[in-house]
Amino acid sequence: MSNLPESVRIVEVGARDGLQNEKTVIPTATKIELIDQLASCGLRTIEATSFVSPKWIPQLADAAEVYQGIDKRDGVRYPVLVPNMKGYQRSRQVQVREIAVFSAASEAFNRKNINASIDESLERFEPVLEQARADGVRVRGYVSTVLGCPYQGDVPVADVVRVAERLHAMGCYEISLGDTIGVGTPEKARAMLLAVAQSVPMSALAVHFHDTYGQALANILACLEEGVAVVDSAVSGTGGCPYAHGATGNVATEDVAYMLAGMGIATGIDLDALVQTGRWLSEALGRTTSSRVARAMAPA
Ligand code: HMG
Ligand code: MG
Repeated sequence: MSNLPESVRIVEVGARDGLQNEKTVIPTATKIELIDQLASCGLRTIEATSFVSPKWIPQLADAAEVYQGIDKRDGVRYPVLVPNMKGYQRSRQVQVREIAVFSAASEAFNRKNINASIDESLERFEPVLEQARADGVRVRGYVSTVLGCPYQGDVPVADVVRVAERLHAMGCYEISLGDTIGVGTPEKARAMLLAVAQSVPMSALAVHFHDTYGQALANILACLEEGVAVVDSAVSGTGGCPYAHGATGNVATEDVAYMLAGMGIATGIDLDALVQTGRWLSEALGRTTSSRVARAMAPA
């Protein structure tokens, strides 16, 4: 296990990937409170919201208000999701400093998610990346459906490599590899990561697992062993993708933080405070947490 990193950067995606899938409208103030609490828990990269079409994701129609309302702390990054130039311009109106663009390794999923083929979506991002470069805005890239697609089934690793390589070549500083429907298992995750790492440096890769089949922590561990040091997760295990039926939440940040702390890998997260935040969020959403750690740490 010599490749294990000494520290891991957690990219907290609960406020975006988590909330985008909630059916009932969550008050803007609750979203702002969530992000501010997450910063107090020690998270240093907090995906805040998404400037996608409000017709497609009504829950995040208040993206500008959320971004403007959060307490932007020194040393904390607040990236937002952007699907096209219109989203980029909306984000810049509220002085966003970091964005994430997203495509998929499977054609059918990309069509359902952003109404474009993979190549069309990459072409759409070219001018966004160009403008971001000119504006000094950092850009992260996501590749979805890296270990399976709800429409196509298996996804060839070569397709993942191609999209990750393109996003990196276009100027994304980091590529997050997303098992959107949570079907992956450790050796498949490891093989996929190693294949991508032939074209994109490991230091520019992140992993993003959903926990549909309970494999997320095992998959993360396999990828850490290969040297990945950036992990996406969502407090309380919220989330899913509205265009990936059957997919459950992201791996819970509490569970990742607990595992890493137990392995002596630094994250900067205050686990007790994070469990409190997860509990507060679960109450606000009217549901029980899917974090095993939060449940184990619940007061008797
Ligand atoms: P479209 O309908 O093809 O867009 O949607 P269009 O360009 O034809 O425009 C239609 C209308 O939307 C126009 O308005 C545009 O102005 C407006 P109208 O003239 O009809 O009044 N519009 C916008 N409005 C606000 N902000 C915008 C915007 N763009 C167009 N940015 C589009 C194409 C990409 C916009 C749409 O499909 C979309 O927003 N999709 C986003 C879906 C989404 O957010 N999915 C979840 C995120 S991805 C994910 O969860 C995976 C990830 O977590 C990783 C993983 O888990 O693996 C990242
Ligand atoms: Mg996701």
